Amino acid sequence: MGLFQSKVVRPKELHRLTYVIVGAGAFGASTALYIIRKYPSAKIYLIDRTSLPYEGAASWDWNKVIRADYTTIRYMQLALEALEQWREDPLYKSFYHQSGLAWEARSLWGGIHADASYQDVCQVFYNQSSGWAEATKALHEVIKTAVAEGVEYVKADVKKVLFDENGSVTGVCTDKGESFLASHTILATGAMTANILADSAPKRPEIQLGGRMVAAAICSAMVNLSEEDAKYFRQGPVFVNDLDHVIGGSLPPNSDNQLKVYRDQSFKNTIFHEASGQEISVPPSKPSYGQWDLTPGMKNELLSSFEGIFGEKSRDWELVNYRICWDAVTPTQDPIICEHPHAKNLFLVTGGSFHGYKFLPIIGKYAVAMMEGTLDPELTKIWAWDRENEGEAHEGMFPTREMADV
Ligand SMILES: Cc1cc2nc3c(=O)[nH]c(=O)nc-3n(C[C@H](O)[C@H](O)[C@H](O)COP(=O)(O)OP(=O)(O)OC[C@H]3O[C@@H](n4cnc5c(N)ncnc54)[C@H](O)[C@@H]3O)c2cc1C
Ligand SMILES: *[C@@H]1O[C@H](CO)[C@@H](O)[C@H](O)[C@H]1NC(C)=O
Ligand SMILES: *[C@@H]1O[C@H](CO)[C@@H](O)[C@H](O)[C@H]1NC(C)=O
Ligand SMILES: *[C@@H]1O[C@H](CO)[C@@H](O)[C@H](O)[C@H]1NC(C)=O
Repeated sequence: MGLFQSKVVRPKELHRLTYVIVGAGAFGASTALYIIRKYPSAKIYLIDRTSLPYEGAASWDWNKVIRADYTTIRYMQLALEALEQWREDPLYKSFYHQSGLAWEARSLWGGIHADASYQDVCQVFYNQSSGWAEATKALHEVIKTAVAEGVEYVKADVKKVLFDENGSVTGVCTDKGESFLASHTILATGAMTANILADSAPKRPEIQLGGRMVAAAICSAMVNLSEEDAKYFRQGPVFVNDLDHVIGGSLPPNSDNQLKVYRDQSFKNTIFHEASGQEISVPPSKPSYGQWDLTPGMKNELLSSFEGIFGEKSRDWELVNYRICWDAVTPTQDPIICEHPHAKNLFLVTGGSFHGYKFLPIIGKYAVAMMEGTLDPELTKIWAWDRENEGEAHEGMFPTREMADV
């Protein structure tokens, strides 16, 4: 049960903790699992558009980099905590591959060497304890585990957040007109977050995200390697290269012998949102955000990343699985994990900023702490709705150009 028409909402029906989590990507799924484990009798709805992980989600992917090398101690600690679970927890470890990670040195230490040229001298940082994870598979396993432990998964497209007469949030309403009521409503909606807030309260500027977080995308592609080549490249690490023309990284071949390269140069897609009279960036409103349709310009940029990482050899490679991947990015690349300051009972757990997937095993724990008011004060500050701009957690990923121009 649990489907009510919004007309018949009566608060006394909410006799127990009820959570609605919109979005079953890494952030939403992890949050669902931590809530059910902490409150086994809570009613938890985890809502997303498809019954399998949504293909357009940032968390949907063949593989993602799992690393603990960050320029701030706080993120190193968080990533180390996550890495331990990737290595040891039976839920995660079969999806984790410890290939090692090599990092072209300019991107380390807060970019203090950013102006040095590494064209000739290649100074490389290597950490053998990092690697990559099979992203969709691990996410799907977390969702299945959450459901087995009592979470109700609902396949629906959420249209709006619902407010009561005093501006507190009471749940959400889907495009089919069903309402899900809850004491806690959590938006883990990634790149769609600005859009859903704008649709929910178009006339209330204080509800809108503004520049706090924008939908942005980066591109990736793969190459099908021969058995022989795959064997050779499989010995290699994850490789990250921040030189201007390369700015990307590669992941070693997966079990299908496909080697992936992504390009860390983002773009946004700004539209005019009629009802709220503001400009926001949103993924294209096409199935799967039109993620398989890359322009020649996007493909060329990827080619130069492939070439910058693999040189001559990559010129003969026929690339497959070209993809545009949308995420929610904040100016400091810190996520937003907080209660909305102008909408009681509405919580945001999003803003992965192109580095959030690795936190799948732990991010829900921090979301629960945030809702209970026990989140570490330092994290409360950097993950707040309004925060000071103090450097970047994952430098250079905020979009400065439009999709239409790439
Ligand atoms: C190309 C690329 C490479 C990346 N590489 C890495 C990496 O190597 N390592 C790493 O750690 N991170 C990486 N990231 C970042 C990481 O993927 C994201 O930060 C993380 O997956 C975000 O998870 P999420 O749950 O916030 O969002 P998502 O995974 O996007 O999930 C949001 C979900 O919300 C759902 N949703 C939205 N609106 C609605 C609605 N109205 N109704 C119902 N459902 C809705 C969507 O369908 C979606 O499933 C990369 C990102 C990209 C794009
Ligand atoms: C490599 O990563 C591990 C975590 O997996 C970390 O403990 C270690 O300090 C890192 N090594 C270096 C040289 O930074
Ligand atoms: C809104 O606030 C008023 C005044 O505090 C209160 O009487 C009323 O019950 C509130 N409404 C809801 C739906 O909580
Ligand atoms: C690439 O490999 C995948 C997975 O093995 C396969 O499905 C696909 O058909 C291949 N594509 C090409 C162009 O060889």
